[in-house]
Amino acid sequence: MSETPDRIGRLIDAAHRGEDLSREDLAFLLSLSDEASLGALETAANSARREYVGDAVHLRGIVEFSNFCRQNCLYCGLRRDNRDVVRYRMDEDAVLAAVHGIRDKGIGTVVLQSGEDPAYTRGDLCRIVGRIKDETGLIVTLSVGERPREDYRAFREAGADRYLLKHETASPDLYRRLRPGCTLEDRLRCLKDLRDLGYEVGTGNMVGLPGQTPEILAEDLLLMRSLDADMLGIGPFIPHPGTPLADEPGGDLAGTLRVLALARLLTRNTNIPATTALGTLHPEGRIRALRAGANVVMPDFTPESLRARYDIYPGKAAVPDGDVLLARLREDLILLGRQIGKGPGGRSGPR
Ligand code: 5AD
Ligand code: SF4
Repeated sequence: MSETPDRIGRLIDAAHRGEDLSREDLAFLLSLSDEASLGALETAANSARREYVGDAVHLRGIVEFSNFCRQNCLYCGLRRDNRDVVRYRMDEDAVLAAVHGIRDKGIGTVVLQSGEDPAYTRGDLCRIVGRIKDETGLIVTLSVGERPREDYRAFREAGADRYLLKHETASPDLYRRLRPGCTLEDRLRCLKDLRDLGYEVGTGNMVGLPGQTPEILAEDLLLMRSLDADMLGIGPFIPHPGTPLADEPGGDLAGTLRVLALARLLTRNTNIPATTALGTLHPEGRIRALRAGANVVMPDFTPESLRARYDIYPGKAAVPDGDVLLARLREDLILLGRQIGKGPGGRSGPR
């Protein structure tokens, strides 16, 4: 046992130097729950963040343009069997108006997010992407779930630059249980298609899922690394009362920060947001993430009247409006000695 503190220090130093950690070593670090080892991970990740991506915090404005979803993920409030959700779809002009609002704030990237909603055809989404590029020149990130490769190709040709598709969990069994009718294999095929088509690709997971072990979280980190994803969204699972997982405990701040810090150490120059889920779970969540390796914040610019209906997890309704979040972030960044990023904020440097 007396070797444990040594082993922790040795592993964190090795990760900081850019060495690969084995699945066993990662699982060991992820199985700890003491403050000292978390503090050491946060410090190392913050230093790696400064070294590889600098002090800039990049902003991505999100527009959640439809909360319809054909999937039935056990964890998600938008699952198709949740009859309590008042569903909405924004039309092309409404999306464009929200995107112009983002551009007017000086934010360089928009993330268009929705459930898996087939009502938006390939042509519909291409038209929206094309208009955003023509009218605003913003970097466009799509996050609309699994679609045929031909759709991904068409969106790319229409001008989409980036795509977010979280792998959610690297355990094929857990994946199948939590996402009925879906497989991790299909998910990974989509991620490969996106990468082949020249997108900057984002993936990520949830922390604190029922049945998730330190070994599975280690696999999440190894998968993030082997996919060579450009962006990594890492957030706590927050149980939603309108889902079959309502009574599960969910993820916590410390456990999520542990995964985030390790992701920074292992992937060095990726873009890692302080996720909205972490900011929702804990009042200090966003700032703690920014001090543990995160370098991106994603303010929400979904129109006020619809935002509460994008009810993925509880607390989402109280997510501050993009402008409010920006004002708070500016204060936080002064304390942190960091600045809002300029330019597209894509992944830079060698992988
Ligand atoms: N808690 C936290 N995150 C969730 N997501 C879905 N449901 C939940 C939940 N209950 C995340 C998933 C998905 C993204 C849109 O929201 O990771 O990729
Ligand atoms: Fe749909 Fe995504 Fe929610 Fe699953 S996580 S139900 S795919 S919105």
